[in-house]
Amino acid sequence: MGRVFVAGSINMDVVATAGRHPRVGETVAGTAVHYFPGGKGANQAVAAAKLGASTTLIGRLGTDAFGLQLRAFLAAQGVNLDFVTDSAEAHSGTAIITLADADNTIVVVPGANALVSAEDVSTPALAKGDVAVSQFEIPQPTIAAFFTRARAAGATTILNPAPAAMFGTGLLDLVDILVLNETELGFLTGLELRDSDEPAKFAGAARSLRRSPSQIICVTLGKRGVLAIGDGDASLIAGRAVKAVDTTGAGDCFVGALAAQLAEGHTIPEALNYANAAASICVQRMGAAPSMPTSAEVAAVLRD
Ligand code: RIB
Repeated sequence: MGRVFVAGSINMDVVATAGRHPRVGETVAGTAVHYFPGGKGANQAVAAAKLGASTTLIGRLGTDAFGLQLRAFLAAQGVNLDFVTDSAEAHSGTAIITLADADNTIVVVPGANALVSAEDVSTPALAKGDVAVSQFEIPQPTIAAFFTRARAAGATTILNPAPAAMFGTGLLDLVDILVLNETELGFLTGLELRDSDEPAKFAGAARSLRRSPSQIICVTLGKRGVLAIGDGDASLIAGRAVKAVDTTGAGDCFVGALAAQLAEGHTIPEALNYANAAASICVQRMGAAPSMPTSAEVAAVLRD
């Protein structure tokens, strides 16, 4: 059985809930404030660990109160933190989130996440069958160094290019599975894509990004499910009808679950179906990392 290695961000999410989002320049009264562990890297690692994968997170925290709380939370979720270091030069990553009607806006201040270096990813020993995961809340040269090592070891690489940022073909060539949402796909392809567009339009856009016959692109479409584009026809795994209360971290849940399943040796279609079910649980709970489901919860959804 393979293991999951996530090189990525760790944030404290400061979440304000309100009846609606403020417009630019406007102040609205909120209803509550929460401090939830988050960060795309940490969320993906927690999802994989709670779903049973041996999971190691590579990242950085500040030497502040958030750093201590985040470390304690991640350890309690079963994530191996041997490669999470503390940096006195920067604060722990912090995300300011506004949540209204289950939809969020996020401003993320990287702090220590911006210091995660190629040296940080040079020590963990990856092997064939492992899965290496990253996202765009740590520097891109670090991700390239991580994936180069992963590829050399025979591990599978998964990139979640979020938040959306341009990147070169050098990095894309190191990616086995690219997981992105429609906004990120639109950004990277320069196409105007809308929620309501036909799956074929997303599939065409995704195909234009593919760099090799073996590369797989997964486009997460929120409640519509996920579209997988490989060598053959695109396949759509339909979303599950649930009442969402907070979609923060749902994409991360999907990525972490996908990685955990692939590390366990499941096929891509099996892993996608499983990850889709996991994400449907995540959106029904508040918070990012705390809303990741267990394998028993996903199994119950898949039995329904
Ligand atoms: O993907 C959700 C995450 O994005 C949040 O947990 C927040 O920290 C931001 O990084």
